[in-house]
Amino acid sequence: MTQKTDSATPFDLIGGEPVVQALVERFYDLMDLEPGYAAVRATHGSTLDDARRKLFWFLCGWLGGPQHYIERFGHPRLRMRHLPFAIGIRERDEWVACMDQAMRETGVEDSLRQRLSQSLLEVADFMRNRPG
Ligand code: HEM
Repeated sequence: MTQKTDSATPFDLIGGEPVVQALVERFYDLMDLEPGYAAVRATHGSTLDDARRKLFWFLCGWLGGPQHYIERFGHPRLRMRHLPFAIGIRERDEWVACMDQAMRETGVEDSLRQRLSQSLLEVADFMRNRPG
C-alpha cells in the first residue's frame, strides 16, 4: 500500500478525469453564481464554455495526468495568455478561493486540497499583471 501511494500523482489521488471534470464544472459554476467571485468573473467573457474545456485539459496535465492541453496548444505560456486580462491581488485571491471552494464541494481530500491550493496560489500569483 505505501509503495503505491508514494508514486501516485495528484491526478491519481484526486480520482482522475471524472473528478477533474467535476471540479472544473463546479469552479466555473461558482464563479458565475457567487457574488464573492465577481471580480474574477468580470475578467472572463460572456460565456465560460471555452474556459471550462481549456482549464480541464490544462489541469489534467498539471496534476500529473494526460497532457491534453500541451497536445493541443503546445507550451501553456500561461502568463502570456493572461496578459490581455487585468489581474491584480483581488482577482488572484478570488480565483484561488473559488477553486478551493470547488475542491471542498467536489470532495477532494483535505490534505490534498490544501497542498493543491498552495501550489495554485503560486501559479495564480504568477498571472498577476497589475499592481495592487
Ligand atoms: C489569477 C487569476 C486568474 C484570472 C483572473 C484568470 C482569467 C482567465 C481568463 C479571462 C481566461 C480566458 C478565458 C476564455 O477563453 O474565455 C483564462 C484562460 C485560461 N486560464 Fe486563467 N485566470 C487566472 C488564473 C489561472 C490559473 C491559476 C490557471 C492554472 C492553474 C489558469 C489557467 C488558464 C488556462 C489553461 C486558460 C486557457 C488559456 C488559452 O489557451 O487561451 N488561469 N484565464
